[in-house]
Amino acid sequence: MKTSEKIRNIYAAEKDIPAEYRLEPLIQKEYLIGGKLKNFRGALRKVHSGILMKKGSALEKKFIGEYPLMTAKEALEALAAAEKAYDNGKGEWPAMGVEERIRCLEKFTGIMRTKRDEIVKLLMWEIGKSLEDSQKEFDRTVEYIADTAAALKDLDRTSSRFTETGGIIAQIKRAPLGVVLCMGPYNYPLNETFTTLIPALLMGNCVIFKPAKFGALLHRPLLEAFRDSFPPGAVNTIYGEGREIITPLMESGRINVLAFIGSSAVADTLKRLHPKPHRLRCVLGLDAKNPGIILDDADLKTAVKECVTGVFSYNGQRCTALKILFVHKNFQNTFIEAFVREIEALKYGMPWEKDVKLTPLPDRSRIDYFNQLIEDAKKYGGRVINEEGGVSEGNFFYPAVVYPVKKEMRLWREEQFGPVMPFTYFEDIEEPLDYVVNSNFGQQVSIFGRDPERISRLTDILVNQVCRVNINSQCQRGPDILPFTGRKDSAEGTLSVTDALRAFSIRTLAAFKNSDANKELVRDILQNRRSKFLSTDFIL
Ligand code: G3H
Repeated sequence: MKTSEKIRNIYAAEKDIPAEYRLEPLIQKEYLIGGKLKNFRGALRKVHSGILMKKGSALEKKFIGEYPLMTAKEALEALAAAEKAYDNGKGEWPAMGVEERIRCLEKFTGIMRTKRDEIVKLLMWEIGKSLEDSQKEFDRTVEYIADTAAALKDLDRTSSRFTETGGIIAQIKRAPLGVVLCMGPYNYPLNETFTTLIPALLMGNCVIFKPAKFGALLHRPLLEAFRDSFPPGAVNTIYGEGREIITPLMESGRINVLAFIGSSAVADTLKRLHPKPHRLRCVLGLDAKNPGIILDDADLKTAVKECVTGVFSYNGQRCTALKILFVHKNFQNTFIEAFVREIEALKYGMPWEKDVKLTPLPDRSRIDYFNQLIEDAKKYGGRVINEEGGVSEGNFFYPAVVYPVKKEMRLWREEQFGPVMPFTYFEDIEEPLDYVVNSNFGQQVSIFGRDPERISRLTDILVNQVCRVNINSQCQRGPDILPFTGRKDSAEGTLSVTDALRAFSIRTLAAFKNSDANKELVRDILQNRRSKFLSTDFIL
């Protein structure tokens, strides 16, 4: 069967879906505020999957559930609940000791593990992620939570000592910041939401979180777990349109930390809404257009394999995806041929199919956008060089490799965030280097080659332009223990298991002049365990 014909037949009929992956619509009216699951009485947003259903010769949308479309009223209620729980730092959660907080988190994780299949299934249906990648996302998140708890123990152990300098004795620790608003993206709706929510929470902050538009239902199975594991108001959830529910929160000036993964344009708008911007801390994961630079001595097999995965994993919908390739002129024909062959070998189909790599997209409007990018490239002499590149059916878009990409094209500068791959060639290494310097983005880059001299020169230049140089490897965030950040429009703040704990807290200390009276006083406090802060307890 020709590829285009197979694409036309990509969707399954309801009866052909394996029983374990069928989904009954999930009607969610509940939301968590102040430790209570409340029933929302207003309008609900209908959720349709990007995975269409074959009905005879037609394709139908599949209704998979509903969730609350809240208003400013409920958003402000969530804010009041978070503030009450925080109680200016005196609330049960912020005042709780580190060991106890970790116990709450472990209780939560225990319940979360039991929800794996349910959440994985929702991930597949809501955002079209393959079964394998959805399972990975879940497991990686659980691991992240455990690593975060271990990192907090370490941090606490290190700060259980006093220091003395210039006649002053001090104990330095990290304290929470207040109310944190967490907003995650649709491409990693569980993982990336939790990589901010969990450290924010664990540091003693009280959190309001809003799931992404695609990928909201999958949080429903965790609402009781949040309610039963943490004190009332430590975690609150809101759902709906950002303009309706986020605007009043930011305008209130009562959000202390904004944790947002999304576009820099939206981040800028949100920051501007805050009446006292200097009071607002931001942890932002934003736009990126990571280039791959393939030198003429690159190992073909490695470069092709890493680039294909780097470009097309989860249909290119990763902030870390390679989004433009520069191949050395002498190597381009060999590379392109092998690259296209490797794309043709990628299996496409429904998320639950074994080894499937390309799947339908959650947002149908993206396909029009990809077509516009391709049309724009054609105006400037670009063309799609792979057979069937850009063929679409419903929400599925077959990868399109566009060549040669030029400065005038939108694909040169816009973050396509999908399965459209612009690529071009270079003769002089200054060409891709200029691209990186002049780009609005500064997250990562991949370089492929074997000459130590050239690789080291490029690494030395590029580390001052981006925040991770990947050598003969695709761009990626993980392992999560490594710092993840970016320059320019790509990020604010650094995330990693340990860095995130820092991002959601502030250093604070208790200090006293080294006098006999002060020492006597503090000795009494320590020996009688009168304070949670002034304490030399070492968590075992
Ligand atoms: O979308 C951005 C994610 O943080 C990328 O994570 O590189 O592990 O896919 P990843």
